[in-house]
Amino acid sequence: MSTASATASPASASTAQVLMHARGLELAFGTTRALRGIDLDIAAGEVLAVTGPSGSGKSTLLHVLAGVLTPDAGTVQYGGRNVASLGEADRARLRLAEFGFIFQFGQLLPDLSALDNVTLPLLLAGVSRRRALERAHAQLDALGLGEHERKLPTQLSGGQAQRVAVARALVTSPRILFADEPTGSLDSLAAEQTMGALLEAARAAHSTLVVVTHDARIAAYADREVIIRDGRVSLDNGLLQGTRPDGEEQTR
Ligand SMILES: Nc1ncnc2c1ncn2[C@@H]1O[C@H](COP(=O)(O)OP(=O)(O)OP(=O)(O)O)[C@@H](O)[C@H]1O
Ligand SMILES: [Mg+2]
Repeated sequence: MSTASATASPASASTAQVLMHARGLELAFGTTRALRGIDLDIAAGEVLAVTGPSGSGKSTLLHVLAGVLTPDAGTVQYGGRNVASLGEADRARLRLAEFGFIFQFGQLLPDLSALDNVTLPLLLAGVSRRRALERAHAQLDALGLGEHERKLPTQLSGGQAQRVAVARALVTSPRILFADEPTGSLDSLAAEQTMGALLEAARAAHSTLVVVTHDARIAAYADREVIIRDGRVSLDNGLLQGTRPDGEEQTR
């Protein structure tokens, strides 16, 4: 059982296989110290909610973990490598092969149909066009979008477009799926449907899901919650299912 709950860090995931292991992450934008020494372990298969006030560093953290941004200090160990010290080409390859990313606003390619948007990452990964189309179609179908797959992003509702973004991120079966407020632009019904679809699809694909959210209900679905304040971990319930120690709720 973890003793590193409440305000303590590093975040501990001692009862499960650690997939990603971040230590001492610091990143400043000019004089703004967005990350001030973050330690975080991410366990295989968990759904981890990252919450905290606006401007606290959540998106920056996600981008550093996913190898989109390079930290000023610290390490991100993944698969025996330090993501933070890889060159741009290696990081791009790693992202394509192992990670998925969903942004607050889906960022679908506007000139491609839903189906082509979801097919693209498979083509980039070297899958044949026929096989890629089959898999993209199946993924869209699984998210209830089969009848919309020929539409352009502008012809979809916000919730549908965001589910296409979910399909695009999941179609390569990423080990880790990073989602930055994937329902932030949606009304509450569409947000609930999208989040339900995301959780179900991530579990079906055995992906680990790291999701930034302001929505307490979404955080409640997660196996674990990390709160970021002023670029630091202010609370990590640090635990996987069934290992919640007494008393940690009072520290919030
Ligand atoms: N590209 C950038 N250039 C300058 N400052 C930045 C940049 N990106 C982020 N920041 C600053 O770093 C801090 C952390 O930003 P970040 O986007 O990580 O916050 P956040 O927790 O995701 O906030 P929100 O909940 O509003 O999305 C903020 O003070 C922000 O203004
Ligand atoms: Mg953000």
